Amino acid sequence: MEVVIFKNADKVTRRGAGLVAEMLGVKPNAVFGFATGSTPIELYRQLVDRHRKGELSFRDTTSFNLDEYMGIAADNPQSYRSYMNREFFDHVDIDKNNTYLPACENSENPQLVGPEYEASIRRAGGIDLQILGIGHNGHIGFNEPSSSLSSRTRVKTLTRRTLEDNSRMFSNGEFQPKLAITMGIGTIMEARRILLLATGKSKADAVAAMVEGPLTAMCPASILQMHERVTVLIDEDAAAGLKYREYYDLAHRENRALKERFGEFYASG
Ligand code: PGA
Repeated sequence: MEVVIFKNADKVTRRGAGLVAEMLGVKPNAVFGFATGSTPIELYRQLVDRHRKGELSFRDTTSFNLDEYMGIAADNPQSYRSYMNREFFDHVDIDKNNTYLPACENSENPQLVGPEYEASIRRAGGIDLQILGIGHNGHIGFNEPSSSLSSRTRVKTLTRRTLEDNSRMFSNGEFQPKLAITMGIGTIMEARRILLLATGKSKADAVAAMVEGPLTAMCPASILQMHERVTVLIDEDAAAGLKYREYYDLAHRENRALKERFGEFYASG
């Protein structure tokens, strides 16, 4: 696991956008795994900005989002489809026909949505770069603590903690879904490269559990310790609970020269 610590959240998202740009440089038809939540919003803004300047094109890319709520329509402003359109897709040249979310709005049987989603990912050739956030409880996607570490895309019930965390997005009296469809942990682990972003003090415990804690379903993100190519981009606040901080900084400095020479997607993390 490569852990890179930046002075502030802005530098975290800048580096994240830089990695997406590098991926597009080596593979213009890359398949991306996208995330929602507050952390990646600034990442999408920077990508939109770079697209507007003519630096980046998403024309040939395909994307699969991690998750989608159940019980609200795609055109509901609270859906993750609406979020992705609003924050990203509407502002870049990606073909929306090539943007996928695991929505079950039009499905007779939500249990079939997961296997169909997985089949679409396989048909696209698998995910080249998966972007992740991390929940306060260590979840990735909506894989809540106790999720099977081999799980596939399926319906999940959200924990009280996640419902509380996400309630800030819903106004008083507005329907807040308690169910969602999420890529499984096994699905996420098949991405060829994973980029996890976390910022702020409130994420420090989850980040420490993910990076240095035991591998356990009680911190689903800890499975990333088993992935070959994970980069964790965090700010000082989110790094506050790490015991090996000094080593991560040293490794980052040593790796930098290699990456400058061979590119991010050559050097090993
Ligand atoms: P956040 O969510 O970016 O809104 O903190 C992260 C997550 O729950 O994965």
